[in-house]
This record gives sequence, structure tokens and C-alpha cells, in this order.
Amino acid sequence: MATLRLVLVFTLLGCWFSGWAQRKAITFYDHIEPIVHTHCTPCHQPGKAGPFSLITYADVAKRAKFVGKVTQSRYMPPWQADRAFRSFANERGLSETEIETIQQWIGGGMAEGRPRRQPAPVAVGPNPPRPPDLSLTMRSAYAIPGDNSEQFRFFNVPTNLPKDTYVAAIEFVPGNHQRVHHSRVMADTTNEIRAMDGLSEADPNVRQFQTKPLADEFLYGWVPGNFPVFFPPGTAKKLYANTDLILNIHYAPSALAQTDQSTVNLYFAKGPVEREVRTLTLTENHVSNQPFYLPANTRPTFYMSSGVLPEAISLISIMPHMHTLGQRFKAFAIVPGGDVVNLIKIDRWDFRWQTTYQFQSLVQLPKGAVILAEATYDNTADNPENPSRPPRDVTYGWNTTDEMMNLVMYYVTYQAGDEKVELGPKATSRR
Ligand code: HEC
Repeated sequence: MATLRLVLVFTLLGCWFSGWAQRKAITFYDHIEPIVHTHCTPCHQPGKAGPFSLITYADVAKRAKFVGKVTQSRYMPPWQADRAFRSFANERGLSETEIETIQQWIGGGMAEGRPRRQPAPVAVGPNPPRPPDLSLTMRSAYAIPGDNSEQFRFFNVPTNLPKDTYVAAIEFVPGNHQRVHHSRVMADTTNEIRAMDGLSEADPNVRQFQTKPLADEFLYGWVPGNFPVFFPPGTAKKLYANTDLILNIHYAPSALAQTDQSTVNLYFAKGPVEREVRTLTLTENHVSNQPFYLPANTRPTFYMSSGVLPEAISLISIMPHMHTLGQRFKAFAIVPGGDVVNLIKIDRWDFRWQTTYQFQSLVQLPKGAVILAEATYDNTADNPENPSRPPRDVTYGWNTTDEMMNLVMYYVTYQAGDEKVELGPKATSRR
């Protein structure tokens, strides 16, 4: 009897122990696949911007060391803004636990485990809820040279809109995912910039076009993995009749000659538009320590101010913009009474990952508030991103060898209850 009891106790203990061991062992299918399918596949799958797929066990095991490195350093998934300063609706990132789980999986020999009956779905990123109302594709395919050169090109895409039109969402779809590194979309109502179509930034004729005042200097910015911009219900952005879109596209270097014909999709507002989305852009003209001039071998910091806001507004999104000399960017608002509203802080600026940061809910700035920003640049030879060797004096311009200091914010006039309006792709098309 005593023996039987002992056997029973040991059997139970054994069961408990093996269950514990199973719970503890980190396997690809139980622990890693869900992380990768949520946070990596939006870009690391065929046809997307990531240079290779990270979907299957073989994909991930093959590059496990690299994956461990880039997740631990928080280089991947890419996200520039300081989360502690302000969090956003379209935020990307792994939790400390997820980063640690990946480390333990690699350290433990990358166990595969058994596929789950229902594997985590491969996330592709949020898609707009319906087909676009107007798809605007570049007039002709651009032949990207295969000579390992970077290409910065301008394209002019007429909308031919017969009347002023409200858009509820804007999406950029690269024609060539491998080569289109980023794109900036501007809106022109003069129709006098059409001859710029296809020109290189280096073309001397480009300067003359840049003197035309644009209706919108920054309608939308796209980088790999950026979501379409959705405006909150009841609000929309106005595009004037006959607007031309101007695309400024950066193509990554490659030894392969390829083509690109990218598209901008517009989603028209369907319901009544109660409030028009406006763009508040702080530019080099708002710099208080003028001139905006970056002499060779210096590391200047510039400060800018919106001036006192004449009305209460609600911010939808924010996007700082600098070129390759940019190092740090910070923006905040001071409201009457002295409180500070954090807007965005980027300590390790990376020209390649410029995102439209979408607030989690509308950010109210009362009448009398002031938006302030500061940006630091490094125009020395120590900056590995400096396009000029040796460094040269740099001033304002659209070209990548020039510099910019922009802070682009979408906003609507404030309305009671705005603080509760949820924003971003999660609010619009829940996954
Ligand atoms: C928003 C799109 C995006 C997401 C999300 C993303 N990546 Fe990437 N990843 C890229 C692009 C684009 C590159 C190539 C450019 C570069 O290396 O900067 C890249 C490069 C890499 C590299 C090579 C780095 C190098 O130095 O060559 C690794 C490894 C990697 N990603 C792993 C991951 C992992 C793991 C995840 C998820 C935890 C992830 N990525 C999420 C877009 C993304």
C-alpha cells in the first residue's frame, strides 16, 4: 500500500514537472512565431520593404543571431520617437519581455517545437477599409539605374479633380518595394511645376520650380511600413480642383536596373465634413535664432516657435522633418498657465525612418498656447550620414544635400469632447 502511494506521488510529481518543463521551454511555434508575425511580417514578407522574409521557422532560425541583435538594440522594428515622452497610435516596438524571450530562445538553441493548430496570423499592417476613390499613378514608369547610385527624383501627378474635394484618408503605394525608400507628397495648385516630372534633385532646373508657393508642402510622407493617414470621422482634408501632386521619391541603390511606378490613393470623405483638417507647418521661417545656416564643421541647434495660437486646436498627427545632418528633434507646447504638453522627442534621428506620428487621441491645445521645437544638426565629418566630404556650408533646400527644419501637424479647430476621440489605424480598422 505504501509503495503504491509512493508510486502515485512520484507519478503526479512527474506529470507536474514535465508540464512545468514544457511551459518553460521556449519554442518557435509557442513563443517566437506570435512575436514575429505581429511585429516583423508587416515589412518582412514578399513584396514588402524588408530585405528578406521573416515568416517561417527556417526564415527566422537562419538569421536568429541577427534578429536577436537588432531587436535587443531596438533597431527593429523601426520606431524613432521616445515612448516615455509621448506614445502614439501607430507605435511599433517590442516589450522588454518579448525582447528577452527572443534572447532566451536563441540562447537555448532555437527549439522549433510543434506547430500550433492555429498559428498566429501573418500581420500585413492595417489596410484602408474600402477601395480608393481615386488612384493616381505616376505618369510613366521611372527607370531606376542599376549603377549602385542613390536617386532622388521629383514626379508630378495631376489629379484632374473637377472640383474642390475632401479626402478622409491618403495612402502611398510604392510601385517597387525594394527600391522606393521613402516618398514625400506635396500639393501644387499653380500647375506650373509639371515640367519637373522625372527630374533629379541634382538638376539645376529644379531650383526654379522650388520658388512656387505650394498649397501643401507636406500632404503626406511615406516610409516603409508607414500606415495610410486616416482623419477622424467628420473631418477631412481639402484638395483644391486641379491640384497636382508632387512626389519626391528616394530610391535605394542597387546593382540591378529596375523600374518604379508608384501610386497615391485618395479616399474621399463620404459623410458630412464638419471640420476641415488643416496643416500647421513650422518651417525655417519660424526659426528664432536666424539665419537657418549650418556652416561646415559645426553642430548648430535651432529653435522655433509657432507664436501664440489664435484659437484652440486639436492635433491629429505630428511629423518632424530634417535631412541627413539632423541628430535630435524635440517639440512641445506651453499652454496658458505654464503647463507643458509633450508632443514628440527623437534622440537618434534617422533620415530613413520618417513617420507620420498619429496621436492616440486628439491633443487639445488651448487658445494662447505656443508650440516650441528645437533641432540639433551635425555638419562635421564625424557624422557618417553627412553627404558632403569634406563638409560644406549648408542652407535651406528640398534637396538631400541641403537641410530643412519642419514640423508638420494636422489639426482641426477644437470642439468639446475632442480629448476622447481615438485616432489612428487601430481606431479606424481594428485588426
Ligand atoms: C516598418 C517595416 C519593418 C518592420 C516592422 C521590421 N523591419 Fe526589419 N527591416 C526593415 C527594412 C526596410 C530593413 C532594411 C533596411 C535597414 O536595414 O535599415 C530591415 C532590416 C532588418 C534586418 C537587417 C538589419 C541590417 O543591418 O541589415 C533585420 C535582422 C531585421 N530587419 C529584423 C527585423 C525583425 C526581427 C523585426 C520584428 C521584430 C523587424 N525587422 C521589423 C523593415 C522593417
